[in-house]
Amino acid sequence: MNHWTRTTTLLAGAAAIAALALTTSTSQPASAAQQVSFARDVWPIVESRCVSCHGPVDQFNDLRMDTAQAILAGGRGGKILVPGQPEQSTFYTRVNLPADDLDLMPAEGDPLSPQEIETIRAWIAQGADFGGWTGG
Ligand code: HEC
Repeated sequence: MNHWTRTTTLLAGAAAIAALALTTSTSQPASAAQQVSFARDVWPIVESRCVSCHGPVDQFNDLRMDTAQAILAGGRGGKILVPGQPEQSTFYTRVNLPADDLDLMPAEGDPLSPQEIETIRAWIAQGADFGGWTGG
């Protein structure tokens, strides 16, 4: 293999890796154009970051988030979801606050990642459809 061939091979390899990285990152629900699934995309976030305080053990502000029925019922402050209107939905607005805002959810631990916040926003913007999911 002469020097030029090796360089070309290396470049092709780098391009393949870059293409792979692109494919992997776009398989996440990054844009509203992509259909978000509650079961696949939203539930893993809720299960790991919300249910410890809004589930079978604790129901802060009477809010449970471990079944579709409970999420639709909302909490003491009323409904947390307005389908199609993320800005009117506390399910979204309470995770999309500055890090030092006392209303920020989750009330403990790191804020959700921008990707997770966008997943929740896009799911509500697309109609907050639970699909076949009834509970986790
Ligand atoms: C460490 C506990 C904790 C975790 C984790 C947590 N919350 Fe909360 N949440 C609370 C407490 C306490 C309240 C009541 C006080 C308040 O409104 O800030 C509350 C209230 C709420 C309310 C208002 C409900 C109502 O009707 O008044 C919403 C909406 C909410 N949380 C959403 C979420 C979401 C979404 C997550 C996950 C991303 C989450 N919370 C994770 C403790 C938690």
